[in-house]
Amino acid sequence: MNRQLVGKVAIVTGGSSGIGKTTAVALAREGAKVVVAGRNVKDLRDTVEKIKALDGEGLFIQTDVSRSEEVKAMVMTTIEKYGRLDCAFNNAGGNARIGGEVALTAEITEDAWDQVMNVNLKGVWLSMKYEIPEMLKVGGGSIVNTSSVDALRGEPYVAPYCASKSALLGLMKSSAWEYGKYGIRINSVCPGLIRTPPVEGRMQSDPEHEAGWTSKKALGRIGEPEEVAAAVVWLCSDAASFVTGHAMVVDGGFLA
Ligand SMILES: NC(=O)c1ccc[n+]([C@@H]2O[C@H](COP(=O)([O-])OP(=O)(O)OC[C@H]3O[C@@H](n4cnc5c(N)ncnc54)[C@H](OP(=O)(O)O)[C@@H]3O)[C@@H](O)[C@H]2O)c1
Repeated sequence: MNRQLVGKVAIVTGGSSGIGKTTAVALAREGAKVVVAGRNVKDLRDTVEKIKALDGEGLFIQTDVSRSEEVKAMVMTTIEKYGRLDCAFNNAGGNARIGGEVALTAEITEDAWDQVMNVNLKGVWLSMKYEIPEMLKVGGGSIVNTSSVDALRGEPYVAPYCASKSALLGLMKSSAWEYGKYGIRINSVCPGLIRTPPVEGRMQSDPEHEAGWTSKKALGRIGEPEEVAAAVVWLCSDAASFVTGHAMVVDGGFLA
């Protein structure tokens, strides 16, 4: 079968773990040169090794997506190294109950609110701010941001996370209107519960967690990172040429 992304250059933030790592490898398998970004160098290096093991091409750039200068450097280094940018998977972020404060809305600290917003929301906007001008230079591109099913329903005790993921959909839809005429498609994926390291950690400490979630899904199981990666690869590819401004739910029927 023809590989779908030969000749394309992609950035994946949060490419050091979980959904981002699996998607970076999947994009490389389709022929894209992939730049992976995150903070943990050891894990980023491991992703690049996985890409190279497929005879793919990639590099990592240590980046904290909440820091403007680092995000700018991530995009500039991509252009210096590969000369163009076609696809971006802006995926870096925290999970609802992991790495964020779990508290009633009135009891959330200002620091916790800022931390979630700075990474999940501002980090995606900063990435787009520097990615879009490079896509304009090559006449188009495809951006996919990682939102969540929690953008489309509420979940108690994690209001900042839900707010950040909902706000990403507003950012995505507005920017899709702005840049569609320039050939840039902008979409989001909204995963349900996906088996990534933080989720696995939580399931180990709370074995009833998976059972509780699987019973709420039409498909009767939680998702695998490869199942989100497949959606992202498709949204990045020309097969999705008429798809923009869309929030693609990948949740095994949870919201159904
Ligand atoms: N797994 C799920 O069930 C699920 C469901 C819905 C949505 N999501 C979303 O999917 C995305 C990936 O989550 P995951 O489950 O794959 O978790 P994960 O394995 O913990 O991956 C999170 C990634 O985000 C990166 N990251 C976090 N803060 C960062 C920062 N300030 N700057 C740069 N990178 C940062 C991490 O890299 P470093 O640690 O190297 O910085 C890591 O690569 C997140 O946006 C999450 O909200 C996950």
